Amino acid sequence: MFIATIFTLLITSCNNTNTNKMEKSKGISKSSFGTADGKEVFLYTLINSKGSEITITNFGGIVTSWVSADKNNIKSSIVLGYDSLSGYLATHPYFGAIVGRYGNRIAKGKFSIDSVAYTLAINNGPNHLHGGLKGFDKLVWEPTVENDSVPSLMLSYLSKDGEEGYPGNLKVDVHYTLTDEDELKIEYNATTDKKTVINLTNHSYFNLTGDVSNNILDHVLQIDADHFTSVDSTLIPTGDITPVKGTPFDFTQPTKIGLRIDSVMGGYDHNFVLNKTDASLTKIATVSEEKSGRVLEVFTTEPGVQFYTGNFLDGKLKTSGGKSIGQHAALCLETQHFPDSPNEPSFPTTILLPGQKYHTVTVYKLSVIK
Ligand code: BGC
Repeated sequence: MFIATIFTLLITSCNNTNTNKMEKSKGISKSSFGTADGKEVFLYTLINSKGSEITITNFGGIVTSWVSADKNNIKSSIVLGYDSLSGYLATHPYFGAIVGRYGNRIAKGKFSIDSVAYTLAINNGPNHLHGGLKGFDKLVWEPTVENDSVPSLMLSYLSKDGEEGYPGNLKVDVHYTLTDEDELKIEYNATTDKKTVINLTNHSYFNLTGDVSNNILDHVLQIDADHFTSVDSTLIPTGDITPVKGTPFDFTQPTKIGLRIDSVMGGYDHNFVLNKTDASLTKIATVSEEKSGRVLEVFTTEPGVQFYTGNFLDGKLKTSGGKSIGQHAALCLETQHFPDSPNEPSFPTTILLPGQKYHTVTVYKLSVIK
């Protein structure tokens, strides 16, 4: 049942009874964030016992900020985002959003299931990208605060049969939890009443320095992937699963992102085939940044991850503080099934059947080395 359970849990309280200083404490608070599609949209602030703070809006399920302390105890947000809804209502490259029904590309916007052909919007060169013209990133989701002791928010949406060209009524819920270990856990669940395809992800753009004036080329990355999916000039997989060894795609050892990026046309925007062989929640990548001391570990149940270095950011978009968001100002690690899987029978399937439960989990865990 998609019931909007909208209630306010303002756990912001006076921690220290001996002073007048108000400190925010663990829990979830809710505030108005504006209006979209004629509906009021909210901003939820999740705070853990360490004082780390994640804000999420039910417009597009967007993670708008993740504020934590660096090694010098300076607090800043490690994800790109706006502090007002207007930035998200304008065109932006999926900052922090839930991406679906199909995260990533489907060649020429076409696929078939049981000989029935489906046609999707072409919104990226000759291809379909990230769910279409009005994908899950641009919708108002039904919010439910699930738990305030382990701050947890559920966003639900019913995508009707035929929406954006996809078959089946798809019921989706996405659960966000901020743990005391500074983990953002995102769980995706879905069911359908007709055979369909699905590939949900989160499109957060990370910059561990907390300042977009610094690009991410000095960030150090390790991905547990011996292979990646080679792509054509429109970023559609050729079907080849290519070894990373001896290529700029070898991140099996911690490596500065900028070291070999110039040998990859446009920068990294590729799906890595993770070495994990089952759907268990497994650590698949680590990003670190020396000056802030911050480390981000990524765990997922998914078989792939799109590593994207913000190649198409060109400085035109600005942060709420007015800073230009330039090329490589942030990186994405979009956990997922492989791009264009509906047209590549050899890739792990993205088909969801009636009666089946789609369930994937991704955890982003932040820590600081002092
Ligand atoms: C894609 C990029 C795209 C970006 C923003 C990434 O997932 O792979 O090609 O530019 O999303 O849309």
